[in-house]
Amino acid sequence: MPKDSEHNGPKHVAVIMDGNGRWATNRKKPRLFGHHAGARRVKEIVRACPDVGVKYLTIFAFSTENWKRTQTEVAGLMKLFRRYIIREANDLLAEGVRVRFIGDRVRLDEKLVALMDQLELLTSQNDKVHLTIALNYGGRDEVARATQRLAYDVQAGKLKPENVDEETLPRYLDTHFLPDPDLVIRTSGEARISNFLLWQSAYAEYEFIDTLWPDFTKDIFGEVVGRFGTRERRFGAVLA
Ligand code: IPE
Ligand code: IPE
Ligand code: MG
Repeated sequence: MPKDSEHNGPKHVAVIMDGNGRWATNRKKPRLFGHHAGARRVKEIVRACPDVGVKYLTIFAFSTENWKRTQTEVAGLMKLFRRYIIREANDLLAEGVRVRFIGDRVRLDEKLVALMDQLELLTSQNDKVHLTIALNYGGRDEVARATQRLAYDVQAGKLKPENVDEETLPRYLDTHFLPDPDLVIRTSGEARISNFLLWQSAYAEYEFIDTLWPDFTKDIFGEVVGRFGTRERRFGAVLA
């Protein structure tokens, strides 16, 4: 193990917050009950970040595929997002959290988008924890939108095709302001990435945890983050 293992924690942790529906069903409650419980857990995990040395936290709140759910569930989630922003804005500001959103805003309700913009602006001077919320986010959709913007820049003469390389595309991604995630956690026992941060997670470590998201405490978070320091990341090389 490296000597300075206490500094080997992940700087950027991304979380696929899964299992709200099953958590509610287990309690014979409607799925939205689980989403509300899940939203409360977000606050606890964001607050825990400075204690475990996580500077960037990115959470998957709603995917481009989640529109396939019932109208009741989708509308309930959108209302929850609006309420969450309104209710949490002042605490996030006071606690030094800088909030940004990734995903396609075009399909989102105008009122919600206005709240998202306001929260980004309100917290733009914060630097303690960088919270990124993926809302109407899909990795393939993001790459497609980025490619379209890149193509427009080529058309406008701002970019030469021969200069397009691995460094170019990330500048067009929604996550252009973020480092790549070091660790991706998915709760609820499913071992798939469901279209989350496809480009960015090329070298991330993955942790699939059986706990359902509403039961994912800061102690479990701390344990998972702590395990990261013991993994050897090779990035394709053979380490001495
Ligand atoms: C994750 O929990 C939250 C969202 C996708 C919005 P789910 O709603 O997917 O919960 P399960 O997977 O049905 O239990
Ligand atoms: C991924 O969870 C999306 C979010 C956590 C927002 P899903 O529950 O939507 O993913 P699948 O359907 O199991 O792949
Ligand atoms: Mg799910």
